[in-house]
Amino acid sequence: DRVHYFTELPSTMDKAIELARGGCRANTVVIAGSQQEGRGRMRRAWNSGEGGLYFSVVVRPDIPVNLAGIVNLAVAIDMTAVLRTRCRVAATVKWPNDILVDGKKICGILSQMETEGDYVDYITIGVGLNVNNVPAKEIPNATSLKVVTGGSLARKEILTAFLDRFEKRISAFDPGEVLDQWKAVNSTIGKAVHIVTINSTFSGEAVAIDSQGGLVLQKEDGKRQTVIYGDCFYK
Ligand code: BTN
Repeated sequence: DRVHYFTELPSTMDKAIELARGGCRANTVVIAGSQQEGRGRMRRAWNSGEGGLYFSVVVRPDIPVNLAGIVNLAVAIDMTAVLRTRCRVAATVKWPNDILVDGKKICGILSQMETEGDYVDYITIGVGLNVNNVPAKEIPNATSLKVVTGGSLARKEILTAFLDRFEKRISAFDPGEVLDQWKAVNSTIGKAVHIVTINSTFSGEAVAIDSQGGLVLQKEDGKRQTVIYGDCFYK
């Protein structure tokens, strides 16, 4: 079967990568009720207590490596659509693919890929959505569906609705459409931002997204810079 559920796992990413390397079918999904070693972007940990939705999906899109970033943007768009239509919350996307509600992060997305020549072999995309868990007070920039809506929501329905959209999207992958949709749901373009990477920081006004999903900054010295990796903070 393509759906693997575990009550707990160190990280759904490791299990998904193991299955991908073993040649699993596209759209294989690994779900965990909680994770002991949940990972975030930029070498951070991801709080993965009970009540959240934690899964990784293995995709095998027939695309060149330079379009993999667009697949990541698509994940955020499709989850945002589910949050808006099913959960009725005003979700937006912060570059590259954090989902915010009320200016706070509700969902994070992490992906890892392996390639064959210039093409993608597989991408494992990990999604952590705060659903019925309540983020600790020590993390003031985080929220959950429970905090935002006051009620409990069925994680399974959210996951199914997301996978329906995302599988269709990947089977008819259209990078231009992804970029247009990203522009329609993002809250980054037009803002003054700080970008932090592992070893440098930039600031400027976010003015555009390029054809590979990079963020174009207009800097104070008049130059433009495209950032392909990093964390984005609104000033
Ligand atoms: C981020 O830093 O914003 C990305 C967070 C990604 C968390 C998810 S939870 C399911 C999957 N397994 C992990 O260990 N991480 C991702």
